[in-house]
Amino acid sequence: MLVVIKKTYEEISKEGAKHVAGLIRQKPDCVLGLATGSTPLGLYKELIRMHQKEGLDFSKVVTFNLDEYVNLPPSHEQSYHYFMWKNRFKHVNIDARNLHIPMGMSDDIEQFCHWYEEKIAEYGGIDLQILGIGANGHIAFNEPGSSLGSRTRIKTLTEETCRDNARFFQNEKDVPKYAITMGVGTIMEAKKLLLMASGVGKAEAIRATVEGPVMAKYPATIVQLHQFAIILVDQEAASKLEGDYPGS
Ligand code: GLP
Repeated sequence: MLVVIKKTYEEISKEGAKHVAGLIRQKPDCVLGLATGSTPLGLYKELIRMHQKEGLDFSKVVTFNLDEYVNLPPSHEQSYHYFMWKNRFKHVNIDARNLHIPMGMSDDIEQFCHWYEEKIAEYGGIDLQILGIGANGHIAFNEPGSSLGSRTRIKTLTEETCRDNARFFQNEKDVPKYAITMGVGTIMEAKKLLLMASGVGKAEAIRATVEGPVMAKYPATIVQLHQFAIILVDQEAASKLEGDYPGS
């Protein structure tokens, strides 16, 4: 596990984008695992800039998103489908046929989850998985207590996550209570992980993830067992770390 601490959010966004762009240049048909939430927004913005100014080519890139709310139509402004189109896909030359986002409106969620796992395998697995982290240590929507070997499935969101995500909705009661999420086991099969965090609100989760014991209570701690994981954090998110890690 490589812990990289940069001063600001802008710096981690640029650094994260460098990793993604490097992979796309080296393997134009790479498979990217994408995250939503506010943390990767700066990285996506930088990738869009690289596409527009430097010709970074997304035409063969394949993507799989980590998660989606259940029962929120793709047209809903807070659905992750909407988020991805608004903040990323519509600004780059990505082929819509290569994009995969869990279908929260599916009639048969269990069957959909199997299909999603099979599809990832069909493409040879995820080359690089971008991850954010919840304040309670969740990754994707794998809430505390999630099995560390779990696969794509439906999860009930904790009250804390619903509260955290309420800022995006008009009322807290509008936040969906369920989501489809890649499992911890699914995420761990990605060839490379890039976990990003910014701000003091993530400092405790990052401390547990990097320096705490591996446990289902903090699903993110599993990244310690990955053979190629980068933890890219700004100084505030790193403020509770005790170890000595490379600075900016
Ligand atoms: C949601 C997403 C996660 C994300 C987390 C943190 O719960 N399902 O994938 O990592 O929010 O979001 P933010 O980056 O906005 O703090």
